[in-house]
Amino acid sequence: MTIETTIDAVRAQVKAWKRSGQSVGFVPTMGYLHEGHGSLIEAARRENDKVVVSIFVNPMQFGPSEDLASYPRDLKKDSALCESLGVDLIFHPEPEEMYHPNFSSFVDMTVLTEELCGLSRPVHFRGVCTVVSKLFHIVQPDRAYFGQKDAQQLAVIRHMVEDLNMDLEIVGCPIIREEDGLAKSSRNTYLSPGEREAALVLSRSIALGQKMVEDGEQDAGRVIAAMKEMIEKEPMARIDYVKAVDGRTMQQITAVRRPMLVAIAVYIGSTRLIDNFIWE
Ligand code: PAF
Repeated sequence: MTIETTIDAVRAQVKAWKRSGQSVGFVPTMGYLHEGHGSLIEAARRENDKVVVSIFVNPMQFGPSEDLASYPRDLKKDSALCESLGVDLIFHPEPEEMYHPNFSSFVDMTVLTEELCGLSRPVHFRGVCTVVSKLFHIVQPDRAYFGQKDAQQLAVIRHMVEDLNMDLEIVGCPIIREEDGLAKSSRNTYLSPGEREAALVLSRSIALGQKMVEDGEQDAGRVIAAMKEMIEKEPMARIDYVKAVDGRTMQQITAVRRPMLVAIAVYIGSTRLIDNFIWE
């Protein structure tokens, strides 16, 4: 496995692989890798000849009052995990390598980013779309892997790839959870022991909503109300949103229908966590 910090070096390596007819799977990440990322890497490993992982905490997708400065980083541990999972190349650029001083082109998306995280994080998806399209241009993968935990991000990226005729396949992978249900996230590391316990309210409310839908509830409003009621009982939790949206357009819906995404964002103390379920 090699670690490259420059765009030129990644391009040269990928070109050589492609010349010899090898396929490339790509897992874009912001590092501090956990089993969720591990499952994406494993899927990429199974389905491609070569696997590239990018580790880049992308300043453009953080708002001014968000956690860019404190976002956890551990390249040593990340490299060891990548090595053990058979990654061929890690791309770990400095911000200056990705964004030169005159950088002024952006990839922006309308409808799909109007709801959910797009509402509470106004610059987020412009940053995600811009960096992901740059990474796709640099790595030129045949397939790229994204977690279902960031369900809106996955929908936005699929849509961007379709809108802009990008020539690759987007593969979505299921949410990986801790044994007690908490969805794996690099941000779980911010939680104190008390907050870690309180954070279980996210997966519990997701399980409640999912069960109501499976049991035949037709009114999305009732599902959302029951989930909110459960979350509001947890003193350390503050709801950012609890919403049911159309799984394709990300627009709010009132009646349960497929495909439906029920997504939540909840602050536990000052840590914002997300979770969701999909009804397909
Ligand atoms: O999901 C993430 O970690 C990031 O949003 C991504 C896709 C790596 C873009 O910076």
